[in-house]
Amino acid sequence: MSTSSSEFSLPLEGKLAIVTGASRGIGEGIALELARRGASVALAYNSTGSEPKVRALAERIRALPHAAPTFTVQADISTTEGPVHLIRNLQAQFRAAAHTGDGVVHPQKPFVVDILVNNAGCERVVPLGQIDVADYNEVYDINVRGVILLTQAALPYLASKGARVINIGSVGARAGFKELSLYCSSKAALEGLTRCWAAELGKDGVTVNCVSPGPVQSAMLEKIPAEIVEMQKAQTPVQNRLGTVDEVARVVAGLAGRDGDWISGQVVSASGVSFRNVFL
Ligand SMILES: NC(=O)c1ccc[n+]([C@@H]2O[C@H](COP(=O)([O-])OP(=O)(O)OC[C@H]3O[C@@H](n4cnc5c(N)ncnc54)[C@H](OP(=O)(O)O)[C@@H]3O)[C@@H](O)[C@H]2O)c1
Repeated sequence: MSTSSSEFSLPLEGKLAIVTGASRGIGEGIALELARRGASVALAYNSTGSEPKVRALAERIRALPHAAPTFTVQADISTTEGPVHLIRNLQAQFRAAAHTGDGVVHPQKPFVVDILVNNAGCERVVPLGQIDVADYNEVYDINVRGVILLTQAALPYLASKGARVINIGSVGARAGFKELSLYCSSKAALEGLTRCWAAELGKDGVTVNCVSPGPVQSAMLEKIPAEIVEMQKAQTPVQNRLGTVDEVARVVAGLAGRDGDWISGQVVSASGVSFRNVFL
């Protein structure tokens, strides 16, 4: 087994990671944790209003002792063009950085995506009987179609050995939360995509996994009915509490590194609780 001094301090050094939804919440935490472990990170976001937050995160990452390189890309992954735009824009930034030889990217380094974290997502609280096509499109275009189109757009550039695709699901995929059927079913779809892509991409040395958080304090959680959140806390054996962004980010970063070499097609519950059916 070969080891180098940076293997433990910066286990993701030399890797390029894309994190969608990096402007806030869980995605911000994942991007920071991957960068802390040495990866160059592309911070993908959607809203123009998120630009200051993304810039601040990029500065925070560049201020790390190893000054991890960052790229920022604005793209709406709910559109059919957004995912391709995200990859093309990142590739152009990467090539420009390599061309100028400013030390951010080695001039000879090809554009290779080592880690793709499909984190961006949205939820809608809407009871059966009131779901309209706009609700369906909003949730499924981001949570399912966006993940498919972005992973396809990244596919030609995925590192042929050891690339990681990590989809961020939810414990809701296996629960029965009332009025959250669109969200929960979209996250169940991610689990199916994860298993099938793991079967398809394994021959190329790519692993595909799904990390499913329980409730974590974030802008999204504020829109979930309080009774559901309280019920989840009550059923969480570990301290009956919410998870933290860091706790989820470390699970993702672990899968992204060598500890994830032999894990594929799995759904990892990052929730302080084992998966089970929950009805409310
Ligand atoms: N928080 C929880 O309790 C919890 C629990 C289980 C699973 N999750 C999952 O974890 C992931 C992150 O959740 P979070 O709580 O951190 O969410 P959040 O705070 O609402 O952040 C959502 C992120 O997704 C981005 N996004 C939204 N629409 C987009 C679009 N059309 N195109 C590209 N990016 C878009 C947002 O970018 P802008 O800022 O630019 O809009 C933002 O960065 C989601 O997949 C969520 O389902 C969260």
